[in-house]
Amino acid sequence: MKLKSKDLLGLENLSKEEIQLILDTAVPFKKLFTQSIKKVPTLRGKTVAHLFCEPSTRTRASFELAAKRLSADTLDIPVPLSSVQKGESLLDTGKTLLAMKVDFIVMRHGENGAPELLAKNLKLHVVNAGDGTHEHPTQGLLDLFTLREKKKQIQGLNVVILGDILHSRVARSNLWGLTKLGAKVTLCGPENLVSKEILKTFSKSVRIQHDFKTAVKYADAVNVLRIQKERQRDGLIPSMEEYIKNYGMWSDKKRWLKKDCLILHPGPMNRGVEIDSATADGDSSVILEQVTNGVAIRMAVLYLLAGS
Ligand code: CP
Repeated sequence: MKLKSKDLLGLENLSKEEIQLILDTAVPFKKLFTQSIKKVPTLRGKTVAHLFCEPSTRTRASFELAAKRLSADTLDIPVPLSSVQKGESLLDTGKTLLAMKVDFIVMRHGENGAPELLAKNLKLHVVNAGDGTHEHPTQGLLDLFTLREKKKQIQGLNVVILGDILHSRVARSNLWGLTKLGAKVTLCGPENLVSKEILKTFSKSVRIQHDFKTAVKYADAVNVLRIQKERQRDGLIPSMEEYIKNYGMWSDKKRWLKKDCLILHPGPMNRGVEIDSATADGDSSVILEQVTNGVAIRMAVLYLLAGS
């Protein structure tokens, strides 16, 4: 089986079978990480450019590691030093990279749909590494991979997505992936941060619950989202203390969770805000495993797109 599209723009566009194919392909890649030589020649001769117009640590580093472990050449475009600063358009930047025979552009951008613009206009592979509030598909995939690895299957799992859902591309990619694979999803957060729009798209498989204790009662996993201070409009969270009291995934609330409930967080974390250190570093946390799995998932995505 192959991926139908040459690009990965979001999980909305992938079938259940394509999502499963990516998860299955990541399994042997993850096994490589325990070998002394963590590299395979699969993408030798290919070039992967990283074009990040917003900050990133783990996505950028793990795409670079993924490309290198597949033996591809990598090219970093540091946007603050690039001709974007002189007014060059995104499309012209893309065309310039294509003229240099780059095979993949992995890109992060503040505008929804920016990766789609390049994907439609350029004969190369575009991978969305996060666009505005739209999607962050490889984060969604690595979250699915982590859940599947820990809980054996996604079908029937109760997953709570907690916090700033309104601004979260991670929430949207998780929603597409989890619902396609048969999980039951609860969105929990203050009214201002839980978009009712989401219910129109996912009405059958998603519920909204503003009360934390009720939301997490049957949860097999809680995916804690970062409070996106950079995307908050004035007044959405009137008081951070109130937010922490009601929605902070702090250890005082763990008594309301099942003993085997997993805690995920896409990172970067605001410790002492949406999560406390005791929870982030505790036994239920799989946050660093998510990071490890991210490299395997990105290897699988690059490998499968190359064959699409
Ligand atoms: N989860 C995530 O996208 O992290 P970065 O912003 O560090 O890439």
